[in-house]
Amino acid sequence: MKVLVVGSGGREHTLIWKLKQSKKVDNIFCAPGNGGISKIAKCVNIKADNIRALADFAARNKIHLTVVGPEAPLAAGIADEFTKRKLKVFAPDKSASQLESSKVFSKEFMRKYHIPTAAFKVFTTAAEAIGFCRTVEYPVVIKADGLAAGKGAVVVKNAEQATATIENMMVKKQFGSAGDTILVESFLQGQEISVMALTDGKTIVPLLASQDHKQAFDGDRGPNTGGMGAYCPTGFATDEIMTRINDYVLAPTLSGLNKEGITYKGVLYAGLMITPGGPKVLEYNCRFGDPETQVVLPLLRTDLYELMMAVVNRKLASIGQLSWRNDSAACVVMASKGYPGNYTTGVKIGGLPNKDDNNCVVFHAGTVYKNSQYMTSGGRVLGVVGLDKNLQLALNRAYRTVNKIKFEGARYRKDIGFRVLNLKRK
Ligand code: AMP
Ligand code: GLY
Repeated sequence: MKVLVVGSGGREHTLIWKLKQSKKVDNIFCAPGNGGISKIAKCVNIKADNIRALADFAARNKIHLTVVGPEAPLAAGIADEFTKRKLKVFAPDKSASQLESSKVFSKEFMRKYHIPTAAFKVFTTAAEAIGFCRTVEYPVVIKADGLAAGKGAVVVKNAEQATATIENMMVKKQFGSAGDTILVESFLQGQEISVMALTDGKTIVPLLASQDHKQAFDGDRGPNTGGMGAYCPTGFATDEIMTRINDYVLAPTLSGLNKEGITYKGVLYAGLMITPGGPKVLEYNCRFGDPETQVVLPLLRTDLYELMMAVVNRKLASIGQLSWRNDSAACVVMASKGYPGNYTTGVKIGGLPNKDDNNCVVFHAGTVYKNSQYMTSGGRVLGVVGLDKNLQLALNRAYRTVNKIKFEGARYRKDIGFRVLNLKRK
């Protein structure tokens, strides 16, 4: 079978690496891909948001399954276009993708279907939002309604910060039209976990829960990034918590979508805060997480191609229980100098392992392969994943490899996993 994966990051490298393990998959294409991906798939020079060109490519090359990585093509309706042309695609359609592309849609959906989430209010004018922020208890979280590349949620500690944030979003249009409408929501405290679940619109099957580290610096300090590391499983996702997530979040989300006339096919990612009052949804994403995918998929034993086809053909119930490797996975992201601000690129990468093994894999995010040499080309460059019996051993493996990889200005966090490791020490 031929598969096309859309996207160019560490998540897509991982999806391809996993799909290649399927006996059913003969050929994998990636649009547009990256340096590391070019070693295991054929990269095609089509941008992830060029939906027409992607559908033309899939039709012309008789692709059996297209898997979409990033959110932008989902919101732009890639699944609708492929389905119209009778091409099989693992991606929710445009209406379903509103769960990620509009925070107002997703919060109102949660309110309607009694899915636990932070209290919120919606504003369409800066004056009203600023007025409201004079009356609240701090901290609160201010969020742009639309897609803002992970930067659209700001925690503010006082009315002054709230006013500046609202003005940036609504008046200065920091995120363009994504900030025309905003939300002000109450701040939740607890452990943040990520639960990705596969659904065909009838059945919903959670994957193992994971945690990522969003902040740039050790101790979970500094600005938010796309993710500096992740691990799976996490001690915070106990069986009891997972049952609650299933009963109070995943199942009602699926039935709510069906009541809205939306058939969701693909992966639904719930970002959750485990609060003293139970798990609450921070956000939905309609795609695989990055770097969560890098730690969840290496533990999956079930054939990913078969799973994805079962989703697309709405036969997920026939798959039964998923099978998992009884180990831990840890990912350490190596980033370019300056990331998440302005960063350098075009730097040579040395010291990469000659080949991956069962217990250490290097997934590429921002790399190109030119003149027999890997060079940096993005903010997040590599995701180094270690696998072993427990989190500490998995981290040791990942860091041993990280320490061998060299590129000028390389920066990574040295404390990935500390929240869970501290938990064990208590
Ligand atoms: P979002 O884009 O809604 O996922 O928000 C991005 C990040 O902001 C989340 O991953 C959390 O770390 C943080 N965050 C969002 N909403 C809240 C909230 N209500 N309380 C505390 N932290 C939040
Ligand atoms: N790691 C967070 C995300 O993929 O949105």
